[in-house]
Amino acid sequence: MGSAKRVVAIPGEDAAAEAFAATTSLLDGLSLDLDWSYPPVGAAAIQTHGEPFPPEARAAIDDSDAALFGATSGASAGALFYLRWGRETFANVRPTRFAQGVGSPLTRPEGIDLVIVRENLEDLYVLSEGALQDLAPLGLSSATWQKPVADLGPGAYALKVITERGCQRVSRFAFELARRRKAQGQVGKVTCATKHNLLFRTDGLFHEVAQHVAGEYQDIEFEALIIDDFANRLVGRPQQFDVVLLPNLYGDVLSDAAAALAGGLGLAASGCYGNDYAYFEPVHGTAPDLERQRVNPTATILCAAMMLEYLEFGEAAQQLVAAVERVYARGTSLTPDQGGSASTDEFCDAVAAAI
Ligand code: IPM
Ligand code: MN
Repeated sequence: MGSAKRVVAIPGEDAAAEAFAATTSLLDGLSLDLDWSYPPVGAAAIQTHGEPFPPEARAAIDDSDAALFGATSGASAGALFYLRWGRETFANVRPTRFAQGVGSPLTRPEGIDLVIVRENLEDLYVLSEGALQDLAPLGLSSATWQKPVADLGPGAYALKVITERGCQRVSRFAFELARRRKAQGQVGKVTCATKHNLLFRTDGLFHEVAQHVAGEYQDIEFEALIIDDFANRLVGRPQQFDVVLLPNLYGDVLSDAAAALAGGLGLAASGCYGNDYAYFEPVHGTAPDLERQRVNPTATILCAAMMLEYLEFGEAAQQLVAAVERVYARGTSLTPDQGGSASTDEFCDAVAAAI
């Protein structure tokens, strides 16, 4: 078992944990050389270790090849933050692909096959907020109000931070991904969308670095859009996009929007990649309001497929995706969010049978 890949499992809370359990049983059926560990995280860890993200959990992550994460309602947020900022998983990859039988609000969703690459660590997510009056000593002024920012309050501010290094690594990641997709028959295009027409310094830097990196990839088409125009085009004709490179917050918001175009959040998977680690997590939250036993595990299953690909079980990953697509095309074992009445387990049984 020396070559087994070590995977940390963090099911998360509520419905997400159910989708997670269904996914891991499905993976067990594939008999891959995966060595799972379930470190103490969240509410259970508070019971046993007195804290939601004890050092054991962190060590388990550091010792692993990858992690699969359900979703967090807050209790396992410490683990999520470590998986992102602790392991510097800077590229959050969120594919949206329409497959036959998948629900869509569009009349013609055929051909949607795009991947959002969301910068995962910077922007407003540096999470540095404070009271406006604390800015007074800095003498910062608002370019639009034409007066000191501290005079706008009482109120609060948040810092939006964009670094050259952050932009460079995520831009290169997006272009490399576009190249790999081009080799598989996609057009080979990166669209970067920002508010560089207003936020000259922050989004301007992101835009400028993406454009500069584009120069290193002559084989890949590059397009730079203003973020609101991108949102409009995304909903109007999503087929025009291949790889979409976005700063963190726009990527967060618009990946939920993109998910709605092809099956909704029940199908939206993501993988967060760093230089030496990756973890995989559905785009959706924990859905505490959903009826249990009937949640759609597709997003978690597709995350698992992305993870298998990363761990060099490429063939198993493709089999899993193909099996999911067959189940949607057949349409007889779908969960309620997709207009069916199957339970989570019935859906997974159908996928297992289709492999
Ligand atoms: C996501 C989630 C997270 C985010 C939350 C849980 C912090 O919405 O992964 O998209 O905003 O990044
Ligand atoms: Mn989100």
